[in-house]
This record gives sequence, structure tokens and C-alpha cells, in this order.
Amino acid sequence: MPRQNPPADNHPARLSLISRHLAPVYPINTPYAVERLPDTIDTSLLPKTQSRSLSTSPKMSSQPAHPTLLIPGPIEFDDAVLQSMSHFSESHVAAGFVATFGETLSMLRKLFQTSDPSSQPFVLSGSGTLGWDLVAANLIEPGEDVLVLGTGYFSDGFADCLRVYGATVTELKAPVGTKPQLPEIEKALSEKRYKAITVTHVDTSTGVLSELQQLSALVRRVSPDTLIIVDGVCSVACEEIDFDAWGLDGVVTASQKAIGCPAGLSISMFSGRAMKAAQNRKTPPASYFASMKNWTPSKSSLHSLSPVPHLADHQTVMQNYEAKKPSYFATPSPQLIHALHTALSQILAKPVSERFAAHRAASDRIKKAIADLGLKQVAANPDEQAHGMSAIYLPEGVKGPDLLPILAKKGVVFAGGIHKEIVAKYIRFGHMGVSVLDPKRNDVDHAIKSLREALAECGYKKE
Ligand SMILES: Cc1ncc(COP(=O)(O)O)c(C=O)c1O
Repeated sequence: MPRQNPPADNHPARLSLISRHLAPVYPINTPYAVERLPDTIDTSLLPKTQSRSLSTSPKMSSQPAHPTLLIPGPIEFDDAVLQSMSHFSESHVAAGFVATFGETLSMLRKLFQTSDPSSQPFVLSGSGTLGWDLVAANLIEPGEDVLVLGTGYFSDGFADCLRVYGATVTELKAPVGTKPQLPEIEKALSEKRYKAITVTHVDTSTGVLSELQQLSALVRRVSPDTLIIVDGVCSVACEEIDFDAWGLDGVVTASQKAIGCPAGLSISMFSGRAMKAAQNRKTPPASYFASMKNWTPSKSSLHSLSPVPHLADHQTVMQNYEAKKPSYFATPSPQLIHALHTALSQILAKPVSERFAAHRAASDRIKKAIADLGLKQVAANPDEQAHGMSAIYLPEGVKGPDLLPILAKKGVVFAGGIHKEIVAKYIRFGHMGVSVLDPKRNDVDHAIKSLREALAECGYKKE
């Protein structure tokens, strides 16, 4: 019997399937090579993005029973966020994933409240610390001055990171439990020209909240060229941040705190001014992975490989993702990006102002309970107290290593101290995300009741 040829119209599809491993169906944009195909790519051959249900009313049903994690990050996760990590494996340059990544970046603009098109979000594999490296490696050149507002362990860390890259750091340190005040900041700014000022919005070691709006107005008045950089690792998604209105130049954060996504993502937003500072620097960034330039396909490669003039624009890999164009410098984690996409979709399902107000209300309730127990907070001034965590001094005679295991037995995990001057004297209670927002969870009441009982078991009596 003569062999029958398959119908002619099957050929392109089959050929495309067979050759997909030889030549990517989708073009990839790298710093060194830009391979773009015309708009006629056959997307029907690619797997679709796995659908996810977006529950905004999480139950812990699909999670094994576990003690409630009430440390200042990582926090408890919503089921839908966790489930979105079990997405099937897909190419990091496939259309479905690129669309998810692009939407994720666009959603970040809403969370940070920036509509300025020159603002640039970055989502990189890494933790919050990588945000410090991004700032230090790209925005500051060796020998340039940076003013670090010292509030505790995390501002000390930011200062150390800046020094590693050659910055000349001046630390304006406040006593434990407080923050530098505006008059002293004004004095420091008028004494020297600083390339940047850094502020830790919530210093997780003390629970001190820094005010950003007036600080930014002061910097703009006294030293208008100074970049205003915020460590928002313990504040983004629980404290208000109005990136454009407050004139911020950089906010760096991480996935595992109030955003409510598992750890592993460094998330940041930079202003057009900050991006220009990175692009116009005279010395190359002393980092490879954290180099913003490496996340930017070079102009020369675009010119040499792209016959299309508009592709010669200087676009970052992040901008390509946001424009739903595949791009590559280093492999992102598709699973974590899916989780972040879900977390951000949940956050943005309501106005962000409601989210900040809900964290504030929960925090007020918790801080009142702490006072009712006769305990004091490390951040003594109510105006300087964070709304996503509380750092609580232990009463005389009660030790953290005794108290924390009792709490754990009751199903509540708090964190110990981390600030070197008071490390053994206090504990930290994280109250962010689903633990305070989901009315079906009893996390806060259970934590307060457990704290009261555990203190009593340690022999504490309120005077
Ligand atoms: C305010 C602040 N900055 C930076 C970091 C460092 O983030 P990561 O531990 O994710 O590297 C933390 C971590 O808790 C933090 O709370």
C-alpha cells in the first residue's frame, strides 16, 4: 500500500513542535543577543498558564496543622498563594510565564502607588538583602557620600552593604527605640552633599516606624539632588507608601513579609531619577547579578541584531517582561513569580488604603493588649510604632528562652530579640497579612491569650 502523506496543513505545526528544542518558539532578549521573531508566532502550540482560583478568604484547610508563625516575616501564607507554586514547570521565556511576570511587575506599580512611567520595578531572585546590593552597586559610586538614618540592626546592615561597594557612609544613629529627628537630619544634610539618604521604614529589630512624607519633603528642600532610598522590607504592603506623591527614589523590599509570598524574591521600585543615576554612572557596578546594567540588553547588541529601529531603545529585561516580551539575563523562579502574582492580585482586589487601615487597626488592638499586660514596647513613642509588628520588652525576671518555647507549645511562634544592645531583653510579634486581615483566622486573639498565659507560667504578675 502506498504511504500516505499527512495533510499538508499539518506540516508547519509538526515541524514547529519537533524543532522547538532546536530553535526557541519564542525569541529571547539577552544583554548579548536579541532574537525576536515577527508577531506571527503560533501561540496555540504553547501550554497555557495553569488556572488558579483566587480565594480572598483563605482557610488553612490545605496546610498541615502547624504553629502560627507570628514573627516579623516570613508570615503565614494564604492557601491560594501556596497552591499557585505548584504550577507545572514552564519555560521562563514562554509566553504564559512572561505574561504572568509582566502583570506582576505592573501590579507592583499599584502597590507602590506610582503611575509615573519612568518608575522601574525589579523582581529578582533573592531576599530583601539583595535590595541593599542593588542600591549600593548601582546608585552609588565609590567614594560618594551616603547618609544612613540609624534605627537599629537593619540600618546597620544597609550601611555595611553600602561600604562594601565603596560608599562613604555617615550614620546618624538614634538611641534604641527611636529614630533620627528632622532637625538633626536637616543639619547633617546641610553639612555635606550626599548622593543618597537611606531610611529603614520599619526597623524590624526595634519596631520603630520612620515617617517618610515629611522626611522626603525635607530632603527635597535642603538637598534636592540627594536620592531618597527606603528599606521597605518590613513595611511594603502594611504601611502606606505613596511613591510618586512622596517623591521617593527607591523602595526595596522582599516577598516574605506583608506581601505574603514565600521568601526568595527581592522586590524594588526605582524612580526615573534613580534609573538615570544608575545609567549615567562613570564606574561599572561592582556586582554581576545585582548590576542594573546586566538587566539591560546593551544598545550595541540590539543595534547589531535587530533590523527593527524601535528595538534599539534601551530597555531593561524588566521592561521587556512588562511589555510581555521574553527576555533573559538570569533565570527567574516561575513558581515564586506565580505566588507573587497571586499575592498581589489578592492585595489589589481592594484599595490599598483599606489594607493599611486594617493593619493599623489590628496593631492598635495588639498594642493596647500589650499595655494591658503591663508590658512596654521598644518603640516607646506611639507615633514611631510600626503597624505590622511589635517589639515588646520582657518583664523583669522573664527570659526569652523560657517564654518562647511555652508560646510555641501553645501554637504561637514569636521571634526573639535581634538588636545587639537589648538582644535578650525583648521579643518580637509580627502581625502582617492574613493573620490580621482574614476575619476567619483567630491568630491575633490566640496570640494575645497565649502570651498572657505564657507570662503567667513564667511567674509574671502584672503590678
Ligand atoms: C527592614 C529589613 N531590611 C532588610 C532585611 C533583610 O531581608 P532578608 O532577610 O529577606 O534578606 C530585613 C529582614 O528581616 C528587614 O527586616
